[in-house]
Amino acid sequence: MPVKLQQNIATAKKLNLDKISNWIMIFPEEINQSYPYASVFTERRKATGSKKTDTSPVVCDLPNKQASHVALACIKQDISSFALLTLARKLVAEHNAYKAKEMGVSVAGFDEVQTERIAEAIIAAILTASAEMPSFKSKKKPAVKLSRITIYGIRKSNGFKRTFAEAEGNALARSLSMLPSNKLTPSIYLRRIKELARDNKWKLEFYDTKALQKKKAGAFLAVSQGSPTADAGIVRLHYKPTTKTRKDQLTLVGKGICYDTGGTNLKPANYMFGMHEDMQGSAVALGTFLALTRMKVNFPVECWLALAMNHIGPKAYKPNDVVTASDGTTIEIVHTDAEGRMVLADTLALASKLKPKLMIDYATLTGACMYSLGTAYSGAFTNKEEFIPTLIEAGKDSGERVWSFPMDEDFDKAIESDIADVKQCSLEAGMDHILASRFLQRFVKNDTPWIHIDLSSSNRKGGLAHIPTDTTGFGIRFTLNFLLDKKMM
Ligand code: BES
Ligand code: ZN
Ligand code: ZN
Repeated sequence: MPVKLQQNIATAKKLNLDKISNWIMIFPEEINQSYPYASVFTERRKATGSKKTDTSPVVCDLPNKQASHVALACIKQDISSFALLTLARKLVAEHNAYKAKEMGVSVAGFDEVQTERIAEAIIAAILTASAEMPSFKSKKKPAVKLSRITIYGIRKSNGFKRTFAEAEGNALARSLSMLPSNKLTPSIYLRRIKELARDNKWKLEFYDTKALQKKKAGAFLAVSQGSPTADAGIVRLHYKPTTKTRKDQLTLVGKGICYDTGGTNLKPANYMFGMHEDMQGSAVALGTFLALTRMKVNFPVECWLALAMNHIGPKAYKPNDVVTASDGTTIEIVHTDAEGRMVLADTLALASKLKPKLMIDYATLTGACMYSLGTAYSGAFTNKEEFIPTLIEAGKDSGERVWSFPMDEDFDKAIESDIADVKQCSLEAGMDHILASRFLQRFVKNDTPWIHIDLSSSNRKGGLAHIPTDTTGFGIRFTLNFLLDKKMM
């Protein structure tokens, strides 16, 4: 059941707080004393020691019939998107125990632009919190689902359509990523994607291992050959706008390693645990693709997903193997745990042959990116240096923040091979997030403008920004901001 949004422009003073039993309220620095129950809020705020513009939520129950539960905060106009979304997550979490069917939201005392920005953040947080995530507990919790958000003080003509589209894409990305690898093998994943393609009228092609052998995609196949079942492959989805005004295409690409054991260079236990989420790049590409479909964007979009497992076993590839990618590049294998760049090499080469206007890939590619940025930022790499300020700005504005790294040619020295065109990675050089990006860049054909997002913020204990689960689905909100607000497509 989708959540319905009701918008009401009733002024703050006329607000009937008794009608709804769960509220989120945002004030500027001072609580508006003409508000109903204003004295209750002020008292509560004093009692909890909250200062002026203290973004920590104040929580209280109103002295009305149903003891309406209110979480409120006072914020500055210029609060960053990240801080605003983080606050929104905390305010929503104050309602977790209540299993509310309806949430009231009131934003009052700000100018029009800020009111919309704040309301949007709260809606985003409510939607992400109410999305159902996979659970295999035998005793299911009784489901009382949120069915309505009533927002006061603002009416937006498109009903926050993009927030809903992004939340749906994000929920899809998170729910797929949380599935363990015995519940989401490449073949089960493909089945799910086929259902989505049917429901959304996407064209779907699947290059199975046979087709990839024909395409001489030896980099992808080096990884997939270790699997006992030959169900790996590359999915290619196509969205066509109904208005045929534009031909310039966007291409999304995602790393979909359903489990990363490390392969022959087996990961130790504490590094392997969680590696069912190594397909999150593909889930984010798919979630972005879904959100763009919901937005009915007027440009064609392709979505390429590299689905495979990185297994250990007698057929698995080994260090010192030399393999040939579909573009003819020979690669010296150094470490079988660097499988992401292998499956992406062929996927990027095949996808960019078709000359898209812009290509973006998402991948949980390197531990190095996580060590250098932490888990509250993701890495952004590009072959068009002039994109960097816009990428960073899209991160700031969306609240899904990215930071960039250098991509100069001389980094390639570290992956020069004696026996092949290039080494897969370096055991000595460090800076693996940069070397991995340099490695990928060789497979981007036709000088296609290309952005690579290394998803170091794909998983963060306690959630990130508006996302309440450890698995974040990071990237969809960022990408729509970059494409649509920054007009990059
Ligand atoms: N999927 C991992 C990277 C990763 C680890 C992402 C943890 C998110 C959380 C990737 O396939 C990998 O194992 N990379 C290696 C590369 C190295 C062997 C050059 C790494 O980072 O250790
Ligand atoms: Zn790996
Ligand atoms: Zn991996």
